[in-house]
Amino acid sequence: MIKTLDVTYEEYLTWDELSPEDLNLVKEARRARESAYAKYSQFKVGAAILLDNGKILTGNNQENAAYPSGLCAERTAIFYAIANYPLAIIRKMAVVAGKEEDNSEPVSPCGACRQVLLEYESRQKKPIEFLFTGMKGRVIKFSKCSDLLPFTFDGSLL
Ligand code: THU
Repeated sequence: MIKTLDVTYEEYLTWDELSPEDLNLVKEARRARESAYAKYSQFKVGAAILLDNGKILTGNNQENAAYPSGLCAERTAIFYAIANYPLAIIRKMAVVAGKEEDNSEPVSPCGACRQVLLEYESRQKKPIEFLFTGMKGRVIKFSKCSDLLPFTFDGSLL
């Protein structure tokens, strides 16, 4: 039997179409991107997280001469958020990325970051909205991170 998965997401053609709350978070992610340490790839990524207490926390990619020792912006931000606000609920994350300052292609999160996002989404039992975009133009928005990683390994059998 062949089964098919459907994934629903929203697409916005410009940042101007976003709600004020989402636009603000995207702009915070763009600001965080500026401080990325992307010495080896020059590919800068910024992430911003909105907690249910209204706080916005940010992170960016941190590279290393020993390449695998670096970390993506998404995980830098979410580990920081959870480490400092372990009881807060994460409402949403926005990611802005690109090598060029005028990149208009949305940059989709890597598999390892999806896995980490899902860990906290399932822990808090509330969806984490996830938006990603380039430096301008199209924005993709998922209403929950589980849609980003079907057939996830969720540890339920550990
Ligand atoms: N990177 C992120 O920060 N997030 C992603 O989702 C994809 C990739 C970073 C890791 C590395 O510093 C650079 O982008 C190139 O892969």
